[in-house]
Amino acid sequence: MTIKESVVEKIIIALDVAEREKALSLVKELPEVKWFKIGLELFTACGPSLVEAIREMGHQIFLDLKLHDIPNTVAGAVRAAVRQGVSMLTLHTSGGREMMLKAKEAALEEANRLGTLKPKLIGVTVLTSLNDEDLKSLGWIENVSSQVLRLSLLAKEIGLDGSVCSAQEVSFLRQRLGLNWLLITPGIRPSWAASDDQKRVLSPAEALQLGANFLVIGRPITAQPSPRQAFLQLIDELKS
Ligand code: C5P
Repeated sequence: MTIKESVVEKIIIALDVAEREKALSLVKELPEVKWFKIGLELFTACGPSLVEAIREMGHQIFLDLKLHDIPNTVAGAVRAAVRQGVSMLTLHTSGGREMMLKAKEAALEEANRLGTLKPKLIGVTVLTSLNDEDLKSLGWIENVSSQVLRLSLLAKEIGLDGSVCSAQEVSFLRQRLGLNWLLITPGIRPSWAASDDQKRVLSPAEALQLGANFLVIGRPITAQPSPRQAFLQLIDELKS
């Protein structure tokens, strides 16, 4: 694998649009991208047929629905995601031990039944939209960073594959969770991109150096006049 290919493997492009045509035109414009993230908005608008269409174009899907429900319901949703061929999906770790366990078992069973690979299960800990005050008002006794660590350790103990974390948390979590834990990091901004509504950003190179396995990048690529040129520039910068 060349350096360029190995860097491409770590980039997930967030398709934060609400229409099928817009999503597909971005995918067509970005043939070099390996991973696309489909979130709540796009999935609610366009459903599983879009997942299938993007997969058939040769890409891997990160289905970011942040599942959070009773164990049986989450397990059912995970099975459906396995049938759709997604490679990675998110669930809320605050759904608890049993919910995560059932999700993992469902992913394994359905993948074995179909003879496919189990998707990576990625835990969401504390949403970056919440601060210490918000946690207090929810009755959570820890501050944000302790709660992030507590939930990440629980997810690891249960056998999830990784967690989503802010760029600021990468190094702290890498130290405590070890090398065998996937860290997926949004809030990434190349030097030439606007920070938009992201408050704490890191450059792609910084985030990878600190130990992120995957970088989730949306607007710095998708909102550029030429998404493909922006993507290739990003890869060239990382390569060098
Ligand atoms: O456009 P931008 O690069 O800011 O997009 C980042 C993507 O990562 C969006 O899909 C956003 O919902 C997601 N995300 C985030 N911060 C988190 C979790 C997910 O920006 N803490």
